[in-house]
Amino acid sequence: MKSGQIMQQSKLKILGIDPPVLLAPMAGVTDLPFRQLVLSFGAGLVVSEMVASQEMVQAKPGVRERAALGLGQAKTAVQLAARDVHWAAEAARMVEAAGARIIDINMGCPARKVVGGASGAALMRDLGLAARLIRAIVGAVSVPVTLKCRLGWDEASLNAPELARIAEGEGVRMLTVHGRTRRQFYKGRADWRAVGEVVRAVNIPVIVNGDIASVAAARTALRQSGAAGVMVGRGAGGRPWLLAEIAHALHGAPAPSIPQGPALVEMVRGHLEASLDFYGPELGGKVIRKHLGWYMDAAGTPAPLRRQVLQAAPERVAALLPEALSGWRGVAA
Ligand SMILES: Cc1cc2nc3c(=O)[nH]c(=O)nc-3n(C[C@H](O)[C@H](O)[C@H](O)COP(=O)(O)O)c2cc1C
Repeated sequence: MKSGQIMQQSKLKILGIDPPVLLAPMAGVTDLPFRQLVLSFGAGLVVSEMVASQEMVQAKPGVRERAALGLGQAKTAVQLAARDVHWAAEAARMVEAAGARIIDINMGCPARKVVGGASGAALMRDLGLAARLIRAIVGAVSVPVTLKCRLGWDEASLNAPELARIAEGEGVRMLTVHGRTRRQFYKGRADWRAVGEVVRAVNIPVIVNGDIASVAAARTALRQSGAAGVMVGRGAGGRPWLLAEIAHALHGAPAPSIPQGPALVEMVRGHLEASLDFYGPELGGKVIRKHLGWYMDAAGTPAPLRRQVLQAAPERVAALLPEALSGWRGVAA
């Protein structure tokens, strides 16, 4: 680790981000139950699913409270998608009032629904609007504001360093860069070296993201980018302890105790129950299926049993878990 990286890590510590291993925001995945599970093993920060500013502010009170659940938890950043200066500032004030400790601005989401509305990654094509949104949000709150973006819209416009300089000038305290362009969506490989261009452009800490699903990948991504830390998304599916393993191997954090056998079944059952409690049985039963699929991928669950688990009524799933997870031998990070 270079001295610059160590200095940037101390800036992250001031923001309460320690160790420098972060869970990526993933709509439909990183809900409160999953974020809590990841934090129970250890992580420097978890980021909520994206909240659209205007919808957040205009939501009926019940909806708003539901969305706000968990926003005030320690080590949690709340991510806002913004496209309008007024609503962005209002939403930022609202999530701060709900207890958010850090607000993250999404300028990386490639979804057409989001870029069509000129937010997410589309803001990388309109740095003027991006700057106005950042200024509105930073000016509206006193909590730290961070930003997540991609390398650029496409190969011909790799303007993340320019956006990063603007963000730094407007008071953003940390940047996360997913090493792909908007055009790539999730195809190809994340370019960790290109993230290094952003690291060199600014004096605030930069976090490298994309395709980091093992200790070895985290080590290489840090080396190639010179970033202060890593953000892990899809790799944490079915392996909520992965961030803690990376933090242990690279940053000297305590080693996580990775559950095996009955303890693994107990952990998955806890995740299932938390999901059913959080959303209610119908929606909770649906949301947890994605996670059950990942747990069963790691266990090599035979296809018929896998189908049975994924099709079972939520209250029947727990009874099937011991057999469904019996093949789990642990996954080396
Ligand atoms: C299902 C899914 C939902 C996502 N939702 C968001 C989101 O709400 N906000 C965001 O900034 N990025 C979102 N992302 C992008 C991730 O945060 C991350 O940048 C990307 O998955 C690359 O990291 P990984 O290779 O570790 O998964 C999403 C990704 C996935 C797969």
